[in-house]
Amino acid sequence: NGEATFAQRLLAWHSRGGRHDLPWQHPRTPYRVWLSEIMLQQTQVRTAVPYFQRFVDALPDLPSLADASLDRVLALWSGLGYYARARNLHAAARRCVEQHGGELPRDLDALVALPGIGRSTAAAILSQAWGDRHAILDGNVKRVLARVHGIEGWPGLPAVEKRLWICAEAHVDDAVLKTATMPDYTQAQMDLGATVCTRANPACLLCPLAPLCIARRDGRTEELPTPRPG
Ligand code: ADE
Repeated sequence: NGEATFAQRLLAWHSRGGRHDLPWQHPRTPYRVWLSEIMLQQTQVRTAVPYFQRFVDALPDLPSLADASLDRVLALWSGLGYYARARNLHAAARRCVEQHGGELPRDLDALVALPGIGRSTAAAILSQAWGDRHAILDGNVKRVLARVHGIEGWPGLPAVEKRLWICAEAHVDDAVLKTATMPDYTQAQMDLGATVCTRANPACLLCPLAPLCIARRDGRTEELPTPRPG
């Protein structure tokens, strides 16, 4: 169906071939989604899984993380690298206990105000944990949108990033996206960027968005997104 929308295509692709067995999806609590998003910022899914399991076995909820010593948290993080992530996680948990009744706030700006959570991570948490309608825009999704929409310019430039956010917000307004489908929609975008719409040699023949893709149409998938200048 050549008429299907960006969101419809991603949801259909996810239900066929997406991952439904990740440990943070069962059960999909806000705490577990948050922890997984912080781990996945700089770590691949298959590497993060055993660390995630060990971490939640030791510290199963936000109050237990807030009560733990920083040394304990750093020990559980040991091997994952980028230890500022663990320090921020611990500080954010303590702040949630002090300011948000021991829970992660269900609010974009309140999440962004916590250490270690940027706008896209906050949106990924809200959409996956509660099914709230928020657009994400991490590195993988920037690449997908730059190609689908044929957006020129290095995505690190504020003007280019702004155009990409506008595209992401437009797709998230699709009426097929509901509380029940938002978690899969968010996951599907990140998975498509990681596994199909890769930087080099994208697998366009497997891509559900190929019929919509401007870069594909124009034979420019290798040129978009525009690399960092210099
Ligand atoms: N990177 C950041 N969040 C992710 C997720 N939920 N799945 C895969 N890669 C990710």
